[in-house]
Amino acid sequence: MNVAVVGATGVVGETILRLLDERNVPIGALGLFASRPRSEPVRFRGDSLDVRAASEDALLDFDVVFFASGEDASEHYAPALVERGRVVIDNSATFRMRRDVPLIVPGVNAEDVRPEHRLFPVANCTAIVLCTALRPIRDAAGLRSVRAATYQAASGAGRRGLDELVEQERALASGDPEPRAEVFGRPLARNVVPQIGAFDESGWSGEERKIRDEMRKMLALPELHVAVTAVRVPVRTAHSQAVFLETRQPSSVAELSAALARGPGIVYHAEGIVTPRDVEGTDDVHVARLRIEPFDSAQDDKGRNFALWSVGDQLRKGAATNAVQILELLLAKGFVAA
Ligand SMILES: NC(=O)c1ccc[n+]([C@@H]2O[C@H](COP(=O)([O-])OP(=O)(O)OC[C@H]3O[C@@H](n4cnc5c(N)ncnc54)[C@H](OP(=O)(O)O)[C@@H]3O)[C@@H](O)[C@H]2O)c1
Repeated sequence: MNVAVVGATGVVGETILRLLDERNVPIGALGLFASRPRSEPVRFRGDSLDVRAASEDALLDFDVVFFASGEDASEHYAPALVERGRVVIDNSATFRMRRDVPLIVPGVNAEDVRPEHRLFPVANCTAIVLCTALRPIRDAAGLRSVRAATYQAASGAGRRGLDELVEQERALASGDPEPRAEVFGRPLARNVVPQIGAFDESGWSGEERKIRDEMRKMLALPELHVAVTAVRVPVRTAHSQAVFLETRQPSSVAELSAALARGPGIVYHAEGIVTPRDVEGTDDVHVARLRIEPFDSAQDDKGRNFALWSVGDQLRKGAATNAVQILELLLAKGFVAA
């Protein structure tokens, strides 16, 4: 199986390369692409590989193409590749809401994959973390509504975002009170920024709309009430969420924590807290601080309104790990030949 990574020099692309290696994915030839060639080769499994400028002809040499490069490249190259039978696993938002493509999070909705599917968008990083955490609750007690505030890391805005946070931390430490701020609109270091993406006429941001729409699709709950405030925080990697949810049937902390503890891809913390620093570099979604809302717990410890805290490394489970897990799923089902 010949595999290409478009966007190999970015933060998601380099994480895909790390995961392909760590998870021993069987690869014949590996092709690395960006918008322009690089003079420095990239090491992979003992080989030095050139980073080339992406082109349709070059990408057609590969059976599976990962896109970690933004919407322009996906729009430009993916349709022709799919048309000619290649498998495309795309981290951009371009195709996620198309009715004829599945939005797969192995562990949430692997059953949606069909042999004829060739195009696999990888969902929004926060939506992946939230759906992984909420699937066991949906299955145990149903879900009526989800409200969340997100705490999203700087690397969620790519290498430029991460570099800008690091530069701002240095500038502030050396006494510059107003460090340069281009990526996040305001300085992010020692601050939080309650806007990710453009606001629509009702005031919801692009990130908030993506999380809502994609969660409904992945959880197969088109009527789910979802309201999110997405906030950028001065954390390098890993997105967190404070979640308030309403179940359809009455449930208890004991029932839901048992469901979470069994949930695929979840590390459940019955006690204590978990922070982005604890989960950076890992592939699971961590859930902690599950509790029932006080006014709701009168009747046998049962109720419908709960709160929890979830955290996941958005470069891994929110992007690269999920992308590589999709390929592993296709290999396991025999839909792609190794
Ligand atoms: N960062 C996250 O946490 C995260 C999470 C989930 C999904 N995503 C999505 O993953 C994708 C990559 O994000 P990122 O954060 O890794 O961005 P990044 O760090 O800015 O990297 C972007 C990569 O894409 C390449 N690229 C850009 N335009 C290209 C084009 N037209 N043709 C070929 N290569 C091109 C860049 O190469 P050059 O440097 O040569 O331009 C670079 O290698 C985006 O769609 C993003 O929305 C990101």
